[in-house]
Amino acid sequence: MDINSKSIWEYNINNSEFKKLDKDISTDVCIIGGGIAGINIAYKLYKNNINFILIDKNKICNKTTKYSTAKITAQHGLIYYNIMKKYGLTTAKEYLEANLRAIDELKNIISAENIDCDLKICDSIIFTNDDNRKKDIDNEYKCLKKMGYNDVEITTNNSILPNIKYSIKFKNQAKFNPIKYVFSITNLFKENIYEYTNAKKIKRKNNKYIVYTKNNKIICNKLIIATHFPIKDIPGFYFIKMYQDTSYVVTADIGKLDFNDTYLNIDSPTISLRTAKIDSHNILIVGGNNTKTGDTALDKKYDFLESIAKQISPNCKILNKWSTQDCMTLDQIPYIGTFSSFTPNLYITTGFNKWGFTTSIIASNIIMDKLLNKNTRFYNTFLSTRMHPIKNIKKLYFNLNQSVQSILINKFKIKEDILKNIPCDTGRILKLSNKKVGVYKDKNGKIFKVHPYCSHLKCVLTFNDQDKTWDCPCHGSRFDIYGNILNSPANINIHIE
Ligand SMILES: Cc1cc2nc3c(=O)[nH]c(=O)nc-3n(C[C@H](O)[C@H](O)[C@H](O)COP(=O)(O)OP(=O)(O)OC[C@H]3O[C@@H](n4cnc5c(N)ncnc54)[C@H](O)[C@@H]3O)c2cc1C
Ligand code: FES
Repeated sequence: MDINSKSIWEYNINNSEFKKLDKDISTDVCIIGGGIAGINIAYKLYKNNINFILIDKNKICNKTTKYSTAKITAQHGLIYYNIMKKYGLTTAKEYLEANLRAIDELKNIISAENIDCDLKICDSIIFTNDDNRKKDIDNEYKCLKKMGYNDVEITTNNSILPNIKYSIKFKNQAKFNPIKYVFSITNLFKENIYEYTNAKKIKRKNNKYIVYTKNNKIICNKLIIATHFPIKDIPGFYFIKMYQDTSYVVTADIGKLDFNDTYLNIDSPTISLRTAKIDSHNILIVGGNNTKTGDTALDKKYDFLESIAKQISPNCKILNKWSTQDCMTLDQIPYIGTFSSFTPNLYITTGFNKWGFTTSIIASNIIMDKLLNKNTRFYNTFLSTRMHPIKNIKKLYFNLNQSVQSILINKFKIKEDILKNIPCDTGRILKLSNKKVGVYKDKNGKIFKVHPYCSHLKCVLTFNDQDKTWDCPCHGSRFDIYGNILNSPANINIHIE
């Protein structure tokens, strides 16, 4: 295996092929988006004999899901004490129970459908190297105990990394290979899936939704947006209730070394650890070192993670390096349910805060119950239409400030730089023939130009020198050096013809 930016989950997997939509079609339910969220919802519709189709603008499971570290856990950082403080003990308890049930349900689906996806039961451990964070760990533990959760333990002797001071363990969590899971489960309903079918526009007419693709339309009674960042801005206003955060990942062959449990720290920079068996090799996956998408301070993101891999296994062989991003809500709770109170029969699932495997199962249950007009237990916990997160003024201000800063920084650079002065392997925004242009000069001096404004809501892009991408600081769209979209919500390329 050579070093590359492929996901480790793709090794030796025969990608399933699905057809492209080439005619107009009517269906009861249309799901837009074939990541883990869309696929788990599709599975529920299939099990309930509902007439549906799922479309993806690319290949299914080719975005965030494919690049995750694929831990299946209810331990989402030190979240429970925070939720309890913000929304009360009952909401924290509901969040925990929804996630614990989701773990069990995912295990049951894997067993019932006989899915070979390297599922391993393991403990999930959160740790800190910081003496001053003992109180945070203690608070989380006390809160979990107060909620009646018994599968939790404060642990002290972890040998995985030096200097771990305190840690807290959730027992009986899990990890798996998400690509194996998706390609196996979609065999059950492959006729319902259309790839390379981009939803470009959504309209409502005569109580139906019409989804327009490049050449065709889909007419449906009920529509589910599972596109990661919603492709529709108004009236849901998710773009002011969320931002995107990028994490970096390095994988390494660690020879005979292996450990079963999964790890995540609460310090900065973040470190996430797990192992996986791929082609009989023990692979260490080190993730984290995250930053808000569009941030410009990206110094040596991969080098840090590589140094952690080397601490764990000094002779390891580095295999892959990639980055990906997830949608972050301002109160740490995802948005699942009705898109808005003005759009009947339109549903949304987003804002997974980097915990999509349990959350997508929760989403599949809530949305299924909604489609069947049934009461659903966790609906209010994940209420998608809530606006109170934007009252988190500090975080909202941080989001806005970063966007404004990025615009000012780039304008400043426009005055200073001229094309020939750009160092190789660097991206800049320049004024060329009176037009602003995003310019990347590669290692050999070759120039690549793009429109430097995001095609979503026109924020000025920043250059990510770790991944050589143009990133949007507002809602996290990303584009390659040619101007092709890598990540939504933008849905139009930024090529210069
Ligand atoms: C580094 C990292 C590590 C993570 N690790 C974990 C972990 O260990 N455990 C965990 O639970 N979670 C983890 N997560 C979070 C998890 O990976 C995500 O929450 C989850 O994969 C998101 O799934 P999704 O289906 O919403 O999005 P995606 O997987 O991005 O799928 C969205 C799909 O929608 C399609 N689409 C978009 N726009 C359109 C359109 N206009 N028309 C048609 N299709 C469209 C896309 O092509 C894509 O296939 C991690 C996240 C990151 C960033
Ligand atoms: S992602 Fe919204 S403006 Fe760029």
